[in-house]
Amino acid sequence: MAEGGYPPVYTVDSGTPWPPVPPRLSKVRRRAGAAQTLLFLLVSVALCGMAIEACFIYRLYQHESGNSASSSKVIAGEDDNPPTTRPSVIILPSKPVAHLTDGQNVVHEKHIMAWSMDADPLLYEMDYKNGSLLIQKEGFYYVYSKVSFSDTDVFYHSVELKTKLYVGKSIPLLMSRKYSDKISNKMRSNSYLGGVFHLHKDDALFVKVSNSSKVRRYKSFENIFGAYMI
Ligand SMILES: *[C@@H]1O[C@H](CO)[C@@H](O)[C@H](O)[C@H]1NC(C)=O
Ligand SMILES: *[C@@H]1O[C@H](CO)[C@@H](O)[C@H](O)[C@H]1NC(C)=O
Repeated sequence: MAEGGYPPVYTVDSGTPWPPVPPRLSKVRRRAGAAQTLLFLLVSVALCGMAIEACFIYRLYQHESGNSASSSKVIAGEDDNPPTTRPSVIILPSKPVAHLTDGQNVVHEKHIMAWSMDADPLLYEMDYKNGSLLIQKEGFYYVYSKVSFSDTDVFYHSVELKTKLYVGKSIPLLMSRKYSDKISNKMRSNSYLGGVFHLHKDDALFVKVSNSSKVRRYKSFENIFGAYMI
């Protein structure tokens, strides 16, 4: 550093063979040169970045098209299978799932609700039999049910579990209880139940109501029952 305002010794002209350039001009030139180098560097870096990005995008695209080709082949099955009218790529759930609805031809029992198999319900790695969803794979499941009803008394709605671990009575997992208005003595309402449970293979889930003839059944999707592994 310069001391006492004097320039440092090494900046003094050392008597080079070429004619000395005025200090201001050389400074400007040096600055311009530095700016050019910097610009060149920045442009190079930007171009390099673009080239690398292009490479990545190309590779990603190759990877994805390769993946989808192989997965559609797996789902389509063996080549000697006859071609079907359905789209070749069928998306299957990754875990067990079921979503059941009411239906016109469904006949409920007095307390246990039945569910439609005509409407091609979502039912994957779970079975349906006589009102019950049967678990095939042990795990944690979110279980839900919704019913619409019209009653003049108390209406109960519950999701029950029948398991081999407890022989005999079913275990209520979820329950709602709604009372009719004492004045109008009429109640039109909905009940939604949902919760997570650890379920074992061959466990049976079903929906119980206080009186299935009080369930409103205008639309199939008013009354639903489902479960999915989390
Ligand atoms: C269906 O379930 C009901 C109630 O749990 C039972 O009374 C009936 O016997 C069952 N029917 C068959 C065919 O298993
Ligand atoms: C169920 O509801 C029907 C129609 O409202 C009624 O006739 C029947 O007595 C009810 N059953 C019970 C057990 O409450």
